[in-house]
Amino acid sequence: MVTIACVQTLVTDSIKDAARLLRQGELVIFPTETVYGLGANALDALAVVRIYQAKQRPADNPLIVHIHCLDQVEELVQDVPDYAWDLMHTFFPGPLTLLLPKRPIVPDATTAGSSKVCLRMPSSPLACRFIKECAVPIAAPSANLSGRPSPTRWQDCLEDMAGRVAAILKGPEAAFGLESTIVDCTGSTPMLMRPGAISLEELTTVVPTTHLAPTQTNLVLPGMKYRHYAPQAHVHLLAPGESPLAPEQSAAYIGLTPPAFVSGYTLLVHSPQEYAHSLFAFFRECDRRAIRAIYAERVSEVGMGRAIMNRLNKAAAGG
Ligand code: TXA
Ligand code: MG
Repeated sequence: MVTIACVQTLVTDSIKDAARLLRQGELVIFPTETVYGLGANALDALAVVRIYQAKQRPADNPLIVHIHCLDQVEELVQDVPDYAWDLMHTFFPGPLTLLLPKRPIVPDATTAGSSKVCLRMPSSPLACRFIKECAVPIAAPSANLSGRPSPTRWQDCLEDMAGRVAAILKGPEAAFGLESTIVDCTGSTPMLMRPGAISLEELTTVVPTTHLAPTQTNLVLPGMKYRHYAPQAHVHLLAPGESPLAPEQSAAYIGLTPPAFVSGYTLLVHSPQEYAHSLFAFFRECDRRAIRAIYAERVSEVGMGRAIMNRLNKAAAGG
């Protein structure tokens, strides 16, 4: 059992102060357009190890490295296939992460010993300015304690990580609300490992050979074998318009169709984008309200719907 030194967590608007702490080897939470990230200097193995401790993350679950410009790509990875450049030129900066062969400069601690590293260039203006100010690539998983929903607001980060990180850079609520799309670019064709805001359909318009990983329930990413995206309540998935048999006061509902039953907490969303944007904050609110059963309406698995159903299926399976 690792003990975490309790530190005073600075909650700040200052990119300069946050970046100075990170450069000193500290952990700093920062906003991105997907979810908040828990950052450390990706090239400093000692700093990176502290991410695993702070999050209580298993040491065999590698981290995404965040950059702010394409010049950093060559510094960190090698043997980049042409199709990966096509994806970067189209979707960077944005909610897309590419898995590529790493250069030796990336420590094993960052990739959990793997010879491959995940790279992402966030589009959130605050994230870009912060990464640039840090002047080093930043290793960052989602800024939640392992097993909790990813944080989409700085207040969620404080709830999970107060006393465990040096600073939280305050920003707006995450625009997308679900983690980035991850594409394995180490084979002859791109393979979608984790669905996100950049859809399979969008990826195939740029690289038509892009395909799904054999099954999304396979252990295709190290992180997938761990409990994920899980609120404390039981999550039941409903077909569109379906009602549960026994509505309860301690139940909650999220979906696009107004529910035909009364629950303690209802969140009606109006588009798949809004569903994605609200889902993790909804899970956290359910925990706060001690909701025992969550009823979530299914959506069709196209576009953003694939990412929503991926997270809902994990939550319904108990994480
Ligand atoms: O939107 C996002 O991607 C957010 C923001 C902060 O950028 N980050 C994020 O990180 O979701 P995390 O650690 O919560 O999820 C990253 C996933 C994990 O399932 C991990 O196993 C996988 O990516 N991953 C990271 N590096 C990898 C590598 N070298 N090889 C295989 N899988 C990797
Ligand atoms: Mg995560």
